[in-house]
Amino acid sequence: MPPPARLMPYLTRMHEARHYSNFGPLVRTLEAAMAERFGIGGEGVATVANATQGLELVLRALRLPAGARVLVPTFTFAATATAVVSAGLTPVLADVDAARWQLTPEIAQQAIQATPVQAVLTVATFGMPHDTAAWLDFERRTGLPVVIDAAAAFGRQWLADGQGTFVFSLHTTKSLPAGEGGLVVSSRPGLAAEVRQRSNFGINLDPQAALPPGALATAGTNAKMSEFHAAVALASLDVWDAHARERQALQAALMHGIDDATGGTVAWQAASGGGDRLAPTSLCLRVRDGAARDRLEQACAAARIVTRRWYQPLLHDMPALQPVCEPLAVPRARELAQTVLGLPFFLGMTAAQQQRLIQACADALR
Ligand SMILES: Cc1ncc(COP(=O)(O)O)c(C=O)c1O
Repeated sequence: MPPPARLMPYLTRMHEARHYSNFGPLVRTLEAAMAERFGIGGEGVATVANATQGLELVLRALRLPAGARVLVPTFTFAATATAVVSAGLTPVLADVDAARWQLTPEIAQQAIQATPVQAVLTVATFGMPHDTAAWLDFERRTGLPVVIDAAAAFGRQWLADGQGTFVFSLHTTKSLPAGEGGLVVSSRPGLAAEVRQRSNFGINLDPQAALPPGALATAGTNAKMSEFHAAVALASLDVWDAHARERQALQAALMHGIDDATGGTVAWQAASGGGDRLAPTSLCLRVRDGAARDRLEQACAAARIVTRRWYQPLLHDMPALQPVCEPLAVPRARELAQTVLGLPFFLGMTAAQQQRLIQACADALR
């Protein structure tokens, strides 16, 4: 996170403008910077309070029929599914690719032959970007809208020929941290504008619209990004490129060190044709079986290294979701849920800390 001194110029600008929320100058500056980065007009970008609400509002803005079925991967963070449920829709839980750990257009194609869905919400698993062009092709072939939950993929997930719909998280754990925050980028005409309106209670602010300004166009919510959060995001953006390179170098060093130390017994997530590993925010590996993962967890715990079973249990196995989701067969995700483990990964990780982690992997897996 940017230190207080880096925030101060932005906080000072905010305070001088006496504008603390409600689409103030800092939010507009951030949105303009994002529009430029994605090569899309300002109407294609909307900031929100977090990615979970961004996902819900994008789904609402697609105006699917109530209860419509949305295909989502079962191997993802719970928020992907809770956003679907909060939007009044039904998650249909699909399998993922064994190497890429993602719901791919090929898997989605098979799923929709077995069961009807009205939209697809795929996930850039652990920030690994999707091949946007392949999903656009799926959209064209099937007529189903596709949204990419790119929560951890800022700076990696890109539009193809200016097309695509993504939701990014600006949570403190992500590569463009605002503390809490989200960003919607979409080439769908009017979608980002509708997300913005729904994030502001549904109030019409457009003097050109049929409805007078101030009238409620839809029953929305409050999911606006405040100027405080935009200040943090802008300070983070100032150092994003340098941090992205550091993240990439750290990940490469750890992967290399662990490969060498374990005799190549671990597997890493395969790229999806969406680009390289720029600005990774986590380090997850896959081991041979559940017993190997248990050994690795124990070796890390003994070395006082914290690990995480990210994206587990699968959505299939979340009791709160079971009554509201439709589960498909997910043999590959079930294997991942036995064998994937998240290791420590953070900017400023010292050489000694890296070595301690590599040694714990060697102790457990060599
Ligand atoms: C795949 C995925 N979707 C959604 C979210 C939720 O993002 P936020 O915390 O900004 O609501 C996360 C958070 O890490 C995530 O990993």
